[in-house]
Amino acid sequence: MDKKRVLIIDDEPQITDLYREFLVGEGYYVFCCNEGNEAITQLENERFDIVLLDIQMPGTDGFTILSRIRDKGIPVVIITAFGTVENAVRALKSGASDFLVKPFSLEDLSLAIKRNIEDSNAASEIFRLKMMKTILELNRIIVSLTELDLLLDKVINIVSNIYQPEIAAIYIAGEEGENFVLRKYIPVKNKLPEQLPVSFKYTQVGNIFSERRVLVEKEKNCKVTIPLIGTKKEIGFMYIEVPLAKEISEEEIKFLEIFALQVGIGIENAILFDMVRNSYINAIKSLINSLEAKDSYTKVHSEQVAYYSLLIGKEMGIGSYNLEVLKNASYLHDLGKLGIKDSILLKAGPLDRDEMEIIKQHPYMTIKILEPLDLKKDEIAVCFHHHERVNGNGYPSGLKGDEIPLLAKILAVADAYSAMISERPYRNAMTEEEAIAELKRCADIQFDRDVVDTFIKILKDNKKEVKGDERN
Ligand SMILES: [Fe+2]
Repeated sequence: MDKKRVLIIDDEPQITDLYREFLVGEGYYVFCCNEGNEAITQLENERFDIVLLDIQMPGTDGFTILSRIRDKGIPVVIITAFGTVENAVRALKSGASDFLVKPFSLEDLSLAIKRNIEDSNAASEIFRLKMMKTILELNRIIVSLTELDLLLDKVINIVSNIYQPEIAAIYIAGEEGENFVLRKYIPVKNKLPEQLPVSFKYTQVGNIFSERRVLVEKEKNCKVTIPLIGTKKEIGFMYIEVPLAKEISEEEIKFLEIFALQVGIGIENAILFDMVRNSYINAIKSLINSLEAKDSYTKVHSEQVAYYSLLIGKEMGIGSYNLEVLKNASYLHDLGKLGIKDSILLKAGPLDRDEMEIIKQHPYMTIKILEPLDLKKDEIAVCFHHHERVNGNGYPSGLKGDEIPLLAKILAVADAYSAMISERPYRNAMTEEEAIAELKRCADIQFDRDVVDTFIKILKDNKKEVKGDERN
């Protein structure tokens, strides 16, 4: 077994000499300090398995030393001639693990050291197991989550559960690699914390990657920067701020380094998945564009739906992740119609019951086509539910009100408006005013009223701009 390292801090050299002689005989490495500041320096620069600390010392006293080392995870046994209950309580509250009142026998000292080292080993074993569990859990999440935003949400949740940080943020390298952009953070009172810049230039933070180590800076708070590195390159970094009192121990830093390795690889995978997904979506988009271009009735329909959906989404403040989902779903939502005969799809007269049933199958066909492409769950859900009605009379699931995803409700309004103002084989195009009146009439029946109101407001406020884009 390793020889344990004991630090004795007491202002009386006779006492430290006595303990040293005894403890060396017991098989310990023993180090002595007779002055507080010297002890703090020694504790900051060396590793000890246990500290014996006198409370009453001239200059820097035992309590000050205790407050400086409480988060290092080293057991501290207080040795004092002033064995009052107040002192004992204060010492234990300040992080001491045991309390010996002078005079005590050398045997008592030996027992206290053994007991506290054993307890400390057990505590760090528990900590290690807890961290191991977190790392295994993270592994499982990384394997199962290929969506970057969901992965970052999980990572920030895990870190928040462990450290309850005042600030937690993840910055990811931009495509060109010259900037690190804020991708996820814990908002303070629903706002971006003032201290968090939206982006960093590589030159500002590049140094954190050179040593590949977790960087801990102590100012008003304890600021921890954790570099995230993938298999090939720097991915970004995670930044947390915890109060000084909750100082991050060496053991936790080791954990964060392993954690960061996994997170880096997970993010790298998710970014790759996103690139593959986007290239699928782009391929499908150009397929849809070329199909629509052939048909004078549906020409630019999906572009128009995407445009209107995004206007509504932005106005409703749905965030960048949801805007991306909405954009992709706007292009993909009617893909299933490819499987429906033109004789039904372009029929000039009203559809009979059987034909209507066939039309109602298109959301199923859409997701069947998209299934092998491993799109985001939200994108699939929006495509699947874009014909639901808030009164529950829509299809395919007959969802009502808030059961329908908000993005599907936005898409439904954009889709209906775009269809209404364009010429169809079975009816003439409506004027914008007629289409707006129809949206209003169907609010709370077919469409979500908030979405309709938002859209009508946008159309009225922004008429020129919206009309301009329709000609694209
Ligand atoms: Fe549809």
